[in-house]
Amino acid sequence: FPFCTFWSMLSLYLLPAKNGEEPTMQFLLEVVDILTNYIRKTFDRSTKVLDFHHPHQLLEGIEGFNLELSDQPESLEQILVDCRDTLKYGVRTGHPRFFNQLSSGLDIIGLAGEWLTSTANTNMFTYEIAPVFVLMEQLTLKKMREIVGWPGGEGDGIFSPGGAISNMYSVMVARYKYYPEVKTKGMSAAPRLILFTSEHSHYSIKKAGAALGFGVENVILLKCDERGRVIPADLEAKIIDAKQKGYVPLFVNATAGSTVYGAFDPINEIADLCEKYNMWLHVDGAWGGGLLMSRKHRHKLSGIERANSVTWNPHKMMGVPLQCSAILVREKGLLQGCNQMCAGYLFQPDKQYDVTYDTGDKAIQCGRHVDIFKFWLMWKAKGTSGFEQHINKCLELSEYLYTKIKNREGYEMVFQGEPQHTNVCFWYLPPSLRGMPDCPERRERLHKVAPKIKAMMMESGTTMVGYQPQGDKVNFFRMVVSNPAATKSDIDFLIEEIERLGQDL
Ligand SMILES: Cc1ncc(COP(=O)(O)O)c(C=O)c1O
Repeated sequence: FPFCTFWSMLSLYLLPAKNGEEPTMQFLLEVVDILTNYIRKTFDRSTKVLDFHHPHQLLEGIEGFNLELSDQPESLEQILVDCRDTLKYGVRTGHPRFFNQLSSGLDIIGLAGEWLTSTANTNMFTYEIAPVFVLMEQLTLKKMREIVGWPGGEGDGIFSPGGAISNMYSVMVARYKYYPEVKTKGMSAAPRLILFTSEHSHYSIKKAGAALGFGVENVILLKCDERGRVIPADLEAKIIDAKQKGYVPLFVNATAGSTVYGAFDPINEIADLCEKYNMWLHVDGAWGGGLLMSRKHRHKLSGIERANSVTWNPHKMMGVPLQCSAILVREKGLLQGCNQMCAGYLFQPDKQYDVTYDTGDKAIQCGRHVDIFKFWLMWKAKGTSGFEQHINKCLELSEYLYTKIKNREGYEMVFQGEPQHTNVCFWYLPPSLRGMPDCPERRERLHKVAPKIKAMMMESGTTMVGYQPQGDKVNFFRMVVSNPAATKSDIDFLIEEIERLGQDL
C-alpha cells in the first residue's frame, strides 16, 4: 500500500479484511504517531495544559471537528483527524502543571499497560478468559494486604471502577457480615442501621447509603477538628445517641487522606470505638492509601491494620492511569457470600481448573474491565522503592509550596500546620482585599476570587488547580501533587500565575 491514501480508505479495509494486514499496520502506526506527538508535547512546558472551549463551541464543531455521528462511514484519514482533534480539545492531565485532580500524570509504563489491556480486550470475570490477569490481580491484592498489615496478606479483595464503588463495597460487605439475610429478604430484615463518616469525608459514603437503601438520613456526619480530622468523642456521642433511639450503629468510615484537606482520621481511636460497640471499621484510603508505600509517611495511617476493609486507589497518589481502585477486605469469603449469584452460564462448577479462581461472582458487576495489568506492570518497572520515591517527592513538593506561601504577602492558609498529605489549602488575597477586616463584604468578595482566577487560568490554558468552599469557609484553592512530572519550578509557576491573574481583582 505504498500509494494508498487514508482519504480513500474505510475501516472495512482493515483486519479482518482480506489483505487487511498492511493497511492495519500503517493505520496503527499513524495512530501511534499521533499519540507519541501528544505525549511529547504533554511533557513540554511550553505547551498549554488545555485549549479551552465552551460546550456549545465544541457541539457546533470547530475547524472540521464534528462530534455528530454519521450514517455513512468516514474515511480513515478523517478518523485520524478525529483522533488528533479529540486530544487537541481535551485536557492534558499528564502536563507538569496540571494540579486539578487527585489523579494526574501520564506514566509511560502504565500507558503501555493500558494499550496491552485493550489489545487483549478480555474480561476479568473468569479465569477461563483472563488467566494471567486474574492471577496478577490475586497476587497484587495480596501484596497490598501485606502492606496494609494483615498477617500473611490474608483476606480478600477486588479491583472496582473507582473509590466511590470501593467504598460502596465496604458498606455492602459490612451489612452482609452483620445482617446476611438482607441479601434475600431486603432491608426489612434488618433494624434501622446507621453509618458514620466525617463531615470532611468523601460524598461516596452518603451515596452508598442512598444507593443501598440505608437512606442518607442514616449516614451520620461526624465533627472534625480544625485540620479536618474526625473527633472520636463526637463519634462515641453519636453512637450512644443512635443506640438510645433504638437504632443499630453498623459501620464507621475513617478517611485516610481526605479529599480537600488531605486529613488523616485517627484510625486507632476509631478502631477502639468500633471494637467497643461491635461495628465495622472501613478506612477510605482512596487518596491517602498510597502513603503506605512510604516508610517515611505510612505512620499517618497507623491503625489501618485494624480495619475490616480498606479502599485504596492506585489511580490517585500512585500515578496509575485511570481507573485502578482496590477494595480490600480482612475476612475471606464475605465478598463472595454477599454478591454471588452463581450464574450457571458463566461460573460453571465443573470446569477443568480450580474454579475458585473465577473471581467474578465477588463483584456487583458482571463484566469487569482489566484494571490490574497497568498497575502490575508499573510495580514491576518501578519496584516498591520506585513508588516510595514518587510518594516522598510529591510530599516534598507540597511542603515546598506550604513553606513558600505560609508567610508570603497575599496568602492565608485555610488551616495551620504542615500538610499531612500533598493537599495545601489557601486563599489568595488580591491587593484590594489585603488589610480589610473580616466582614461579610470581604467574605463575599474573597469567595469570588478563586473562581475568577481559575476561569482565567483555564482560558489562558497555563495551569489548572482546584478550588471549593468547605463548611463555613469561602472558596479557597486546593493544591494537590500526585503528578510525577511536577517540579519546584512548576510550583513556582503556579504561584506566579495566581498572582499575575489575581492582582487586579
Ligand atoms: C477520599 C476519597 N474517597 C473516595 C473517592 C472517590 O474515588 P473515585 O473518584 O475513584 O470514585 C475520592 C475521590 O476524590 C476521595 O478523595
